[in-house]
Amino acid sequence: MNTVVYPGSFDPVTVGHMDLIRRAAGIFDHVVVGVLINSEKKTPLFSLEERVIMLKDACGDLSNVSIESFDGLLIDFVRDKGSNTIIRGLRELMDFEMELQMAQVNRLASGGIETIFLPTDPRYSNVSSSVVREYARYKVALPEFVPENVLRAMEKKGIVKSTKQED
Ligand code: PNS
Repeated sequence: MNTVVYPGSFDPVTVGHMDLIRRAAGIFDHVVVGVLINSEKKTPLFSLEERVIMLKDACGDLSNVSIESFDGLLIDFVRDKGSNTIIRGLRELMDFEMELQMAQVNRLASGGIETIFLPTDPRYSNVSSSVVREYARYKVALPEFVPENVLRAMEKKGIVKSTKQED
């Protein structure tokens, strides 16, 4: 079975991540979404458990996608999953510089784990979790950037003001 690992912080998962997961699920037999446990991001919007639940919810219709958390080195997690391939999205040149370095180091350190890049759909090229978090600091939601279940979770937690129309 051809398994690919899609790693990330997913704090929170965005429509750009979802697009990549769907496309990866169409290419590979199995996609393991790996949610990083010890993110260096100082104040996460959502706990690890919440991020995993929201991803599971958003990927509910994708039978060949599973969501797991991981700690430590990505290459060890990839090996644990019986995979030798990582997938990452590329939105812009700045992404490429970082991602290229990460892919090269991961390949060298693992003795061959490959990274495949998918160019982001242009509709999502300016979508990022960090922008969602930045707006949330001011209680402002970006409904176009996140799946419906994430938006509702942000409202429920009081992270952002409700976007629902009052009757
Ligand atoms: O969504 P992000 O924050 O851009 O994802 C970054 C991630 C999780 C892919 C990266 O930080 C990672 O792989 N962390 C695990 C630790 C590791 O293996 N570091 C070496 C990378 S060269």
